[in-house]
Amino acid sequence: MPTPHNNAKPGDIANTVLMPGDPLRARFIAENYLESPVCYNEVRGMLGYTGKYKGVPVSVQGSGMGMPSIGIYSYELFTEYSVGNIIRVGTAGAIADSVELRDIIIGMSASTNSAYAAQYRLPGTYAPTASWDLLSAAAEAAKGLDCRYHIGNIFSSDTFYDDANSLADWQKLGVLGIEMEAAALYMNAARTGKNALAILTVSDCPLRGLSTTAEERQTSFRTMMELALETAVAVNE
Ligand code: HPA
Repeated sequence: MPTPHNNAKPGDIANTVLMPGDPLRARFIAENYLESPVCYNEVRGMLGYTGKYKGVPVSVQGSGMGMPSIGIYSYELFTEYSVGNIIRVGTAGAIADSVELRDIIIGMSASTNSAYAAQYRLPGTYAPTASWDLLSAAAEAAKGLDCRYHIGNIFSSDTFYDDANSLADWQKLGVLGIEMEAAALYMNAARTGKNALAILTVSDCPLRGLSTTAEERQTSFRTMMELALETAVAVNE
């Protein structure tokens, strides 16, 4: 059923959707990794495509930046389009000392400073968690790739420019990296009984004042995409 944000028709979208923040990156992924991609959405420029990878139907759609934006798109994919799996593919800033530029982080859980969970009226603190099926498939696929990867807790922040400079406090609790979407995605998946995972490449180290070059981002992006697509194939079996 088309929504105010997505004019795909029922059946246009695959059971597994990869979600980069940038819709132009969704187009790049579709054109470079999928066989016979078809564009299903252009509303607000939030491009969505469906094609095949190794014979498995896969969609790729932009999420926009931040939890309100991925909250809308992922909720609609889960509830209006019967999507079963959403894998966020994006970038993160390193927080833990062990995490280096170009490493991959697989988000087992996503701490947050967002009030997204307030809607559930819980008498406590909810722990947004990745789906085991996707997490275990990604962990298995990562072993076969020539890359450094970490699996653990990430921090989904409402702010990119933050007055409180709190990253050192998150570091004390073993948090691996910072990004801005996974916690809301994990909560939507939990609430709708679906599956979600975030796979991230480390584009910068805010605590160390480092960032990757465009060329380095391109290489680590390819490894992340291979990992996400192999995960999509594995959970289809
Ligand atoms: N902060 C928030 N999100 C990010 C960052 C960051 O430093 N790097 C990549 N995504």
